[in-house]
Amino acid sequence: MAQRISIPAGSTREKIYNIILPRIDSVISGEKNYIANLANTAAVLKEALGFFWVGFYLREGSELVLGPFQGPLACTRIKIGSGVCGKSAEQQKTLIVPDVDTFPGHIACSTSSKSEIVVPLIAGEETKLVLDIDSSTLNDFSSLDGNYLEKVILLIKNHHFSS
Ligand code: SME
Repeated sequence: MAQRISIPAGSTREKIYNIILPRIDSVISGEKNYIANLANTAAVLKEALGFFWVGFYLREGSELVLGPFQGPLACTRIKIGSGVCGKSAEQQKTLIVPDVDTFPGHIACSTSSKSEIVVPLIAGEETKLVLDIDSSTLNDFSSLDGNYLEKVILLIKNHHFSS
């Protein structure tokens, strides 16, 4: 049964991550469809953390293609190596961009996006997808977000990409 996430007022971002991680785990453990699980993961992150845009880009050959997301209309295709998403996919590491206007080649899907974090999911040495989060506030992401979002990606990897 679908339920809203209850976050106590005044919770720190770390506390929110600690509330939602088990929630994401339980939601995706109950469903075997990959797209459904990415959709609900984006929904939980967006609702609990309130970012401007939360979503996934899925690897298709030499491109990333827009997957399940929450937020305004977004670019549909990004070449591996282009923009923050494509660079994260290529370098296979989490990228934190405090000010998107200073990132060479940043792809602006919306002028409201000011800072960004992208976390790749790597399986069998290949980037399978990236989680992309945009904030309308400058410098909104730190290694704390990186650490927790990597845990989110690990849940998805263990559930859908373990051999
Ligand atoms: N800014 C991203 C593009 C995706 S949107 O932010 C949703 C990038 O530079 O790869």
